[in-house]
Amino acid sequence: MRVLGIETSCDETSAAVVEGDATRATARSLVILSQDVHHVFGGVVPEIAARQHLTALAPVVRRAMEDAACAPAELEGVAVTHAPGLVGALLVGVSFAKGLAASLGVPVIGIHHMEGHLFATSLEHERAVPPFAALLVSGGHTLLVDVAAWGECRLLGATRDDAAGEAFDKVAKLLGLPYPGGPHVERLARDGDPAHVRFARPMLHGGQQPGDRDYYDVSFSGLKTAVLHAVRDAERRGALDAERAHLARAFQDALVETLVEKAVRAALAFGRRRVVLGGGVACNRALVVAMTQRLREQLGDGAEVFAPGVRLATDNAAMIARTALFRLGRGERSDATLNAYATRPLPGLVSTAGATA
Ligand code: KG4
Ligand code: ZN
Repeated sequence: MRVLGIETSCDETSAAVVEGDATRATARSLVILSQDVHHVFGGVVPEIAARQHLTALAPVVRRAMEDAACAPAELEGVAVTHAPGLVGALLVGVSFAKGLAASLGVPVIGIHHMEGHLFATSLEHERAVPPFAALLVSGGHTLLVDVAAWGECRLLGATRDDAAGEAFDKVAKLLGLPYPGGPHVERLARDGDPAHVRFARPMLHGGQQPGDRDYYDVSFSGLKTAVLHAVRDAERRGALDAERAHLARAFQDALVETLVEKAVRAALAFGRRRVVLGGGVACNRALVVAMTQRLREQLGDGAEVFAPGVRLATDNAAMIARTALFRLGRGERSDATLNAYATRPLPGLVSTAGATA
């Protein structure tokens, strides 16, 4: 089966052609156009994002079809992100997908963006398939999910405030680094001395028990405030330039250790030997290395951590089309009433015990 995917939930206009079935799939093409205009504002401006999708989407789709050497008549479905995200931005993709599917006489299907992130890594790593514990860490979301099978998951934890990527972006701003801040903080942290300062690990302490509300949840706003105070203190002493890298390192160490411990708790609790990462923060090598090391300490050398490459970690349409192969394969379809939603629960949830999202 060959499906066109469309993703316009935030500031990337993306289209991809993916081929395969519910269990195995390959991306024949993937085009991602990032809207650089938001860098000027230090964050995504929803109205501008929607307008840019409007002008970019048709050429991006055409290019994805050309790259895949796929004629419109060869498509067997059109998949589009319909939630969660910026409603104006989502609507551009949803309207386009409905029109295209109707004109081709093929099914259209709305896909949940975070379910897309769950599937993304499997496009690159054959073994990144359920059962696994998943940590989805992006600019807008931080979710810890147990995935027993595709379409059958348990939301274990989420952030109580800032998403992991948002924390990177805000700390980058405090340190005077450009937006989006994650890659800049990571680069700077490599030169930081881990012994210079240590920030408390947010929502992580030994007394936590499975079943406690904070056993899997995370919170990063306190860590951000700790960085703010440390930056101000360094500024007062005229030492910020000398200490910037140390502060980046201390922040990243605290955030990474928190995410790693929570994900390892999930893997142990559900007997999973694989952890799958997704979302932009999964590009962070320190996170991937620490996760692999900790999981192997706990479960031995057979334990595996899978992280997608940069293009599949950040927002992209290949993950949306990949998810659609699974859902269309089960006979699911959307109809002309398909709409866009800012928030929606993750599909296939069997239980939300322990989570606040
Ligand atoms: O998944 P994504 O592209 O977009 C959202 O759905 O939000 O994630 C973007 C986020 C940004 O906050 C960015 O700073 C972060 O991912 N990010 C990173 C790295 N690369 C991107 N954070 C930490 N380390 C990185 N190397
Ligand atoms: Zn995303």
